[in-house]
Amino acid sequence: MRRWRPGRQTGPAPPARQLLKPDGIVKYNRLCDKPALNTRRSNSVMEQRPFGSTGATVSPIGFGAWAIGGNWGDVSDDAAHATLNAALDAGMTFIDTADVYGDGRSERLIRAVLDTRDGPRPFVATKLGRRLSPHVADGYTADNLAAFVDRSRENLGVDTLDLVQLHCPPTEIYYRPEVFAALDRLVEAGSIARYGVSVEKVEEGLKAIEYPGVASVQIIYNMFRQRPASLFLAEARRRGVAVIARVPLASGLLTGKMSADTHFAADDHRAFNRHGEAFDVGETFAGVPYDVALDAVDALRALLPGDVPMATVALRWILMNEAISVVIPGARSPEQATANAAAVDLDPLSPALMAAVKTLYDERIAPHVHQRW
Ligand SMILES: NC(=O)c1ccc[n+]([C@@H]2O[C@H](COP(=O)([O-])OP(=O)(O)OC[C@H]3O[C@@H](n4cnc5c(N)ncnc54)[C@H](OP(=O)(O)O)[C@@H]3O)[C@@H](O)[C@H]2O)c1
Repeated sequence: MRRWRPGRQTGPAPPARQLLKPDGIVKYNRLCDKPALNTRRSNSVMEQRPFGSTGATVSPIGFGAWAIGGNWGDVSDDAAHATLNAALDAGMTFIDTADVYGDGRSERLIRAVLDTRDGPRPFVATKLGRRLSPHVADGYTADNLAAFVDRSRENLGVDTLDLVQLHCPPTEIYYRPEVFAALDRLVEAGSIARYGVSVEKVEEGLKAIEYPGVASVQIIYNMFRQRPASLFLAEARRRGVAVIARVPLASGLLTGKMSADTHFAADDHRAFNRHGEAFDVGETFAGVPYDVALDAVDALRALLPGDVPMATVALRWILMNEAISVVIPGARSPEQATANAAAVDLDPLSPALMAAVKTLYDERIAPHVHQRW
């Protein structure tokens, strides 16, 4: 059985360390106007950020567990275990999942992995609501919410869920205070420690944080989805609401590895939801048309040095905004998980690079997404 002792992990050294020179410092000279951009990774304990005003702290890079549940092509149980273990070995202390990822498979895999590890338990956020069929506002009754919570408690093997998020509910839900009152009662009952929302649109986030019990908002925020920065993030921070940045790599586009020839399996949403056939198209490639996105990635590549992975820079870009509590890249292999963890070690991006990324967004991407979400 594997045993987890933070700071004294056993097992193979995370591949992220391959980035390090013997002195533990990597210099990425061309990323910034500064003399050098350094990463330091002396052990696998990450700095922590406060999770809003909840009192909890979490690693700024967490683990998005959708891909280990389903909808991303085949990910075997063994691969899922290895990937999540690699993320935790690299110091991630936050996991995002949902009751519908693989219809509970993601939650059960997380339980199975955590059962094999010692040390402090990571913060596990799950979501509910999408098991409703049809998925309509009237289904968000107190009884249904309680039943969904009980199923996730069972799947995750806990008495109290750390965080339950309404999973992109119909917009009307944000105008039904009785739903939030029902969540308050679940907190009082002890079956959830706190609750939040996962939203599609900036305005849903702004409405949600009018409810004092909403501890967190999960929203798409990445180099290709910049609108949250223009008004939502500052307001969330002002109110002490934690922000979880999802789809940080635009479903993998912002790794720079994709091309017009990239093949996606039939059961991968990047094949079957390219035009929003199954759920909101914004969840697939952040809603950017694939050809437009590939051109923009080429332009982005020209702004970056060749010696830092684009994914690392894309994740660090998100962390530049202090309102962000945690970024949750998905991963399908241990190598991806450890590489993503290394983003916390990258020096801040320069104002010149930040401005260039904003210009690229304004000129190439905004016309396709800015007024939609
Ligand atoms: N409605 C909601 O609440 C909602 C919706 C979407 C996502 N989420 C959450 O947000 C999380 C993250 O979003 P996401 O998984 O949709 O998208 P993402 O994080 O933008 O992209 C993940 C994909 O990028 C590729 N990748 C990741 N790290 C890489 C690396 N270092 N190098 C190369 N490729 C890498 C992998 O795809 P391949 O290797 O297959 O190419 C991976 O599956 C999800 O896991 C989920 O927890 C929530």
